[in-house]
Amino acid sequence: MSDLPEITPEAVDAAAQAALDAIAEASDSAAIKAVRAAHTAEASPLAKLNSRMREVAPEHKAEFGKLIGQARGRVTQALAAREGVIAEAETAARLEAERVDVTALPSRARVGARHPISLLQEQIADIFVGMGWEIAEGPELEHEWYNFDALNFDADHPARQMQDTFFVDPVERHLVMRTHTSPVQVRSMLEREIPIYVLCPGRVYRTDEFDATHLPVFTQFEGLVIDKNITMAHLKGTLDHAARVLFGPEAKTRFRANFFPFTEPSAELDLWHPTFKGGARWIEWGGCGMINPNVLRAAGIDPEQYSGFAFGMGIERTLMFRSDVQDMRDMAEGDIRFSEQFGMVV
Ligand code: DAH
Repeated sequence: MSDLPEITPEAVDAAAQAALDAIAEASDSAAIKAVRAAHTAEASPLAKLNSRMREVAPEHKAEFGKLIGQARGRVTQALAAREGVIAEAETAARLEAERVDVTALPSRARVGARHPISLLQEQIADIFVGMGWEIAEGPELEHEWYNFDALNFDADHPARQMQDTFFVDPVERHLVMRTHTSPVQVRSMLEREIPIYVLCPGRVYRTDEFDATHLPVFTQFEGLVIDKNITMAHLKGTLDHAARVLFGPEAKTRFRANFFPFTEPSAELDLWHPTFKGGARWIEWGGCGMINPNVLRAAGIDPEQYSGFAFGMGIERTLMFRSDVQDMRDMAEGDIRFSEQFGMVV
């Protein structure tokens, strides 16, 4: 029993002082936790002194009780105060460590941009889809029959010459890289039921120079309508509408007589561009006309019963005068700084 220390003011003071010293020395939450265990739990010096209260004579119980109680009170208070200081310091240190510099540049992967030709192609497609038309597609590697013969081109038409058309080996297979989107007219007439209202956007190939106004690979959009009682007035109204959507309410189109093997009559199509960079003016936009009866027959359609119109325009050219692009090669080079000027639509 008497291996417990005797209760004396000195012993109580010494135990309290030891606790207070340990508290003052603790510098982080792990240390203060250890001090709390060592100096307040059952095995602590003050607790051991307290265990001897049972042996204290009744007349001294109050005095010693007070002595130990006060000592425990001081230790508990000092402990709580030190714990508060340590917690605060640790929170501040953590906040400092986790501090974010909101002015710093984030290291983000660069966002790409849609190519302006893709954007314009979709915008054009939307105009026609908005009128109830469908989008039609055909292969870029095309049979000569669709690209030329069915479109009423003579065997010796200059467009067939080696210097205009990419023929694909072996030549006996009669495959070409399509020189225009017009073969999709023939495919659409063969594949679809009348009435036909289709827009065919897509890539075409010609043995052209690569310069400011020519690309050997470029994009066209072709329109085709086959129905009963279709006239050139429908063609004109359709093109005027497309012109206004793309170039503003003042825009309009005009026809100049021309020749294409697959249309009769045929017209060169001019656009009145009211917001052209150098001032409002007429600009050559594409070709159009009423479907030649020979083409209808090639696709198995009776020209006595049905008529139709078609048109075809270049999208790179359209982008050039719509957005004031000076050099078509910018559209082929794939430099994102060019695309970004047309918006970051992805
Ligand atoms: N296919 C012609 C070209 O690439 C453009 C064209 C002219 C298309 C008249 C048409 C059309 O549909 O009717 O030069």
